[in-house]
Amino acid sequence: MATSLPSKILIIGATGAIGKHITSAIASASLQSVSRVSIFTSAATVASPQKQPLLASWKQQGLSVITGDITKPEDVRAAYRDIDTVVCCLGRTALLEQIELLRIADEEASSVRWFFPSEYGTDIEYDETSRDEKPHQNKLKVRAVIRDEIKKLKITYVVTGPYADMFLDFKRGHESAGGFDAQAHQAVLIGDGNDKVGLTTMPDVGKLVVAALAKPEASMNKALKVQSFVATPRDILAEFESQTGAKFDIKYTAMDTLKEEEKTAWAKSDPAAATFTLRRIWAQGKTLYEKTDNESLGLALQDMEPLSAVVQRAIRGENQ
Ligand SMILES: NC(=O)c1ccc[n+]([C@@H]2O[C@H](COP(=O)([O-])OP(=O)(O)OC[C@H]3O[C@@H](n4cnc5c(N)ncnc54)[C@H](OP(=O)(O)O)[C@@H]3O)[C@@H](O)[C@H]2O)c1
Repeated sequence: MATSLPSKILIIGATGAIGKHITSAIASASLQSVSRVSIFTSAATVASPQKQPLLASWKQQGLSVITGDITKPEDVRAAYRDIDTVVCCLGRTALLEQIELLRIADEEASSVRWFFPSEYGTDIEYDETSRDEKPHQNKLKVRAVIRDEIKKLKITYVVTGPYADMFLDFKRGHESAGGFDAQAHQAVLIGDGNDKVGLTTMPDVGKLVVAALAKPEASMNKALKVQSFVATPRDILAEFESQTGAKFDIKYTAMDTLKEEEKTAWAKSDPAAATFTLRRIWAQGKTLYEKTDNESLGLALQDMEPLSAVVQRAIRGENQ
């Protein structure tokens, strides 16, 4: 890479919930500097009938598929051959695998220069309370290794806040954590529903990663704070009511109740515990910034999806 622009990109976790949006955006982008895009995926994903159509469409767009095991250093070394930029979208249960992926990229893969760790979520270093939040721990460990051990690689974290597409939905069985049901015309709002939240739609996460790749001077060695729009739960409710023409049945969850439910969920090792924590963090305003990095990436408000688009998809049952 004579300049710092990416040329050969490898995506890890490509067919995951957010990886597919990021990969599709990179595959469709006309980034002039990019001569090759590959994904590194497991044999199970390649053999999965559900994932075949997606893989076939990417191959038609010119992507190459490298099959291997992210826990086998020899497979990782082979996947990194000739690659200069790695975009990692591994899921929550595989976040710590990134530590070895980063070490191999830093110490053994001479071509790799730029690495996007799997973040695409809540700001894990928003303020002094962030370091104690349970859902942040694995991402914090990855950042600590990067800070203390990684020498050669440039790093970009894409911090998007909650995905609007998921924020709108109820977590079934845990409706008190907030959300909307477009068919049943029901809503649960946290607090009085007037607290602002910074949200990013899932297609926009892909757009933002592409913008970060295109502007290394604005994105290298940064934790980019980006978002599609800011809205209160009441703004979202108003959009649902306007688009459906129906009055929603509204319930409220007080912040203290949410905190109690969060505590109980963690005590019971309920898999929904992280949802309660994250929804509490979002309702506490910890997705809000005086200024985001959208502008430095060349993206204005009108370049991002509006609330109306994601509500429309929710009503049609098309989100995600
Ligand atoms: N902002 C938000 O609201 C929000 C919501 C959800 C997730 N996130 C963040 O987005 C990032 C990606 O999460 P995701 O939900 O998209 O991930 P996911 O769908 O659970 O998994 C992504 C991919 O990781 C790969 N993978 C390999 N080994 C794995 C393992 N042992 N366990 C899990 N995945 C494995 C798979 O890659 P292949 O495709 O190659 O098979 C899988 O498709 C995470 O950092 C997560 O915290 C943010």
